[in-house]
Amino acid sequence: SNGAAKAGKSRNIIEKMEESDKNCVVFYGSQTGTAEDYASRIAKEGHSRFGLNTMVADLEDYDYENLDKFPDDKLAVFVLATYGEGEPTDNAVEFYEFFGSEDITFSEGASAQDKPLSNLKYVAFGLGNNTYEHYNSMVRNVDGYLTKLGATRLGAAGEGDDGAGTMEEDFLAWKEPMWADVAEKMGLEEREAVYEAVFEVSEKPDMDADADEVYLGEPNKNHLEGTQKGPFNANNPFIAPIAESSELFNTKDRNCLHMEIDIAGSKLSYTTGDHIAVWPTNAGKEVDRFLTILGLASKRHTVIAVKGLDSTAKVPFPSPTTYDAAVRYHMEICAPISRQFVSILAQFAPNDDVKAEMVKLGSEKDYFHDKVADRNLNLAQLLEILSNNEPWEKIPFSLMIEGLLKIQPRYYSISSSSLVQKDKISVTAVVESVSKPGAPHVLKGVTTNYLLALKQKQHGDPNPDPNGLNYAITGPRNKYDGIHVPVHVRHSNFKLPSDPSKPIIMVGPGTGVAPFRAFVQERAAQAKAGQSVGKTVLFFGCRNKAEDFLYQHEWDQYKKDLGDNFVLHTAFSRDGPKKVYVQHQIEDNAEEVNKLLEEKAYFYVCGDAANMAREVNTLLSKIISKYRNVSETKGEEIVKAMRASNQYQEDVWS
Ligand code: FAD
Ligand code: 2AM
Repeated sequence: SNGAAKAGKSRNIIEKMEESDKNCVVFYGSQTGTAEDYASRIAKEGHSRFGLNTMVADLEDYDYENLDKFPDDKLAVFVLATYGEGEPTDNAVEFYEFFGSEDITFSEGASAQDKPLSNLKYVAFGLGNNTYEHYNSMVRNVDGYLTKLGATRLGAAGEGDDGAGTMEEDFLAWKEPMWADVAEKMGLEEREAVYEAVFEVSEKPDMDADADEVYLGEPNKNHLEGTQKGPFNANNPFIAPIAESSELFNTKDRNCLHMEIDIAGSKLSYTTGDHIAVWPTNAGKEVDRFLTILGLASKRHTVIAVKGLDSTAKVPFPSPTTYDAAVRYHMEICAPISRQFVSILAQFAPNDDVKAEMVKLGSEKDYFHDKVADRNLNLAQLLEILSNNEPWEKIPFSLMIEGLLKIQPRYYSISSSSLVQKDKISVTAVVESVSKPGAPHVLKGVTTNYLLALKQKQHGDPNPDPNGLNYAITGPRNKYDGIHVPVHVRHSNFKLPSDPSKPIIMVGPGTGVAPFRAFVQERAAQAKAGQSVGKTVLFFGCRNKAEDFLYQHEWDQYKKDLGDNFVLHTAFSRDGPKKVYVQHQIEDNAEEVNKLLEEKAYFYVCGDAANMAREVNTLLSKIISKYRNVSETKGEEIVKAMRASNQYQEDVWS
């Protein structure tokens, strides 16, 4: 699982630090890139403000059984995201298993009772979401393990909350006192921070952007050579043909896409309930905006070579490449901007007035929220407004590579059954488009608008780009014919009971219905094949029966195969005088729901994590309490136990 071992690099962190003369390592466990970004920000700040020799380390690149020999004059920082139901991120699985193991032993044979980590000094920050049951359990548990093993935490452990939308502010609020504690306990002097580039970006004006060795969006060397080779995974996406695409809504204002992604021949496999990761391309309109405001538009096709100035700095994309390709395919240029990044950029403002405004935005939280965050601005949009379109030519490109996230794949709950179509993955994706009063631009979701553009192209739509987003559809070299998208599969624990005769209850309003289309499709096929299939109950909700009733006509088909065992309850929230949600339908059918649960029905919830999933959870405890004649507390305990035994499963996102 680890890239470092494959590349023949050492997995010994102590050796690595010694070799590269580091006294502070910032480990990250990251799923969507935020924890990784925080880790590199901590590393940079530790160096520029406190003179620490810092490095960033991916948790999956190192072993941990020698941490008992971690020198006591060095510092380890852990930045740990909690994923899904209290799980570690993919890159932190081995780390977490090591520390969580009952009989943990270190290299010299020391075990837990010996307090083997008494030399280890550390600080920790967790990224979590309070709408999930196991809020920030990664950082809480790891902190517990480390303390128990004798390690010393030098400051308070921090926790950021994505659910409350305060992640960035929680991080900034944790960081300052953390540095004060670390500086005091390690005897560090704070100094005037000066920017030092992490990467060297060299322009190669003599090289042709069309040269074979220049990366123009290809994720790695195999792709560059035009023969993609597996295994395909998060480090090596499969460029998959889109076999079919269609629109699921019947309304002009909103779009929901159905896509069939062809994975035949890729050796990618999935089982019903898994997720597909889709790698986006930025809209040409935003790439142009970004390059123009940095004064790079005229050099956009200049070839650049990017390398780390330090052996521990990982370049987040392959090079040589061009400014255009690096920005278009690898940098998250449309995402919300961090307040800290605005402060750092202030020193490169085109004039003193703009600089003063940047400093104010960077230091005043409420002002920043008012002027930037609440207006949904991306970085280039902000820079345009502040300088009145004067280019910010002083910003080093290295700082953009350091300061922006590398582009992240987006996950979609697969909406087909692997039993029915093992070589084709269905996706059901609602196209993100948010217009906020007072915001100067409509926020267009990067991936879903890219997918929409692919669909328009595939259909030869006469008006393929109504929003002028100008996506690059075929990629710069047309290596792959037709309409393609880079993907990989992420396996999940959201699964049907292995015995199809067990009853199931599914709650999936909106695009939350995606995996349930797959579940029902699978059970219909099993019934058709003569297997005994249990009660299959689906609660679906949307705004209007006529506009966004997803897969309306397919349900009738499945009904033919499943007969009375398939029951669809619908909640149309905007068709009548008052809102009807899936919860109302569950309440109206409470007795039946309870009865099925007593018969050990699996209960599934998919979709909105922020409100719906929580409300359904609460409702279910109330129903259980009422119909089983037990206290509400007992009802809650029963639901908790159902979750623990996987009788109750969630696939939710916010
Ligand atoms: P993005 O560009 O990522 O923007 C998304 C949101 O981020 C915006 O609406 C906004 O709230 C915020 N944002 C972005 N930029 C800014 C800015 N500059 N300022 C302020 N706010 C900003 N979706 C589905 O439609 N179907 C599914 O089946 C599905 N399954 C999922 C399963 C899982 C496990 C997860 C984690 C997510 C799932 N999603 C699903 C959501 C999906 O992954 C994407 O998040 C969604 O499609 C939006 O992606 P995007 O690239 O179009 O939007
Ligand atoms: P609304 O937008 O009319 O309020 C899919 O998005 C469906 O879920 C819509 O009908 C939406 O209704 C509904 N919905 C919104 N908030 C919800 C909640 N807290 N619980 C359940 N359904 C909700």
